[in-house]
Amino acid sequence: RQIPNDRPPETLEAARDQALRCTRCELCHAATQTVWGEGDPAAPLMIVGEAPGDHEDLQGRPFVGPAGQLLHQAMAGAGLDFAQAWMTNAVKHFKFVPRGKRRIHQTPAAGEIRHCKGWLDLERRFVRPRLTLALGATAAFALTGNRSPLTPRRGTVETTQDGGPVLITWHPSLILRLEAGAAAQARDQFATDLSQAARLLA
Ligand code: URA
Repeated sequence: RQIPNDRPPETLEAARDQALRCTRCELCHAATQTVWGEGDPAAPLMIVGEAPGDHEDLQGRPFVGPAGQLLHQAMAGAGLDFAQAWMTNAVKHFKFVPRGKRRIHQTPAAGEIRHCKGWLDLERRFVRPRLTLALGATAAFALTGNRSPLTPRRGTVETTQDGGPVLITWHPSLILRLEAGAAAQARDQFATDLSQAARLLA
């Protein structure tokens, strides 16, 4: 579905303005707002998550909740300055099911990821990162078109559909859901991957 009267945007800001009014899929109806990317628009590093969570949906900013906190800590540990990255998500509306007063996150469906891909492609065209970091399977799928399981791919560099390198790693929300032993291992791997990203950018 096309947005009526919208021309192809010529700047990142124009793309954002269009995305704020996006109704290409059903997720816009229940979500509070579009959560667009944030950071340095000339960043050498683009970090792509899955979709905004509860906190991000309410604040309209990516990675401001617990997963974002873990990401920021890990980036600091690897010497990556988040002010010099562009942080965004494969899907720009929160997907959830209500349970009592809580809103429980749901993984976006392949069709929702595809509908939102036009926005990610625009962000990528304007930001033009040297390296992309894919957090989890949704981001890896959106960027590469490959839906195969993440475990054997984690820590490796693949090629995005637009022809750039993408380092695949865990999603920080996954690490937060694992039990202690597995979480410690996944945290180490996450730290290793972020250090690899820093090396690739050096
Ligand atoms: N998880 C994501 O994938 N993205 C966010 O912005 C927050 C949590």
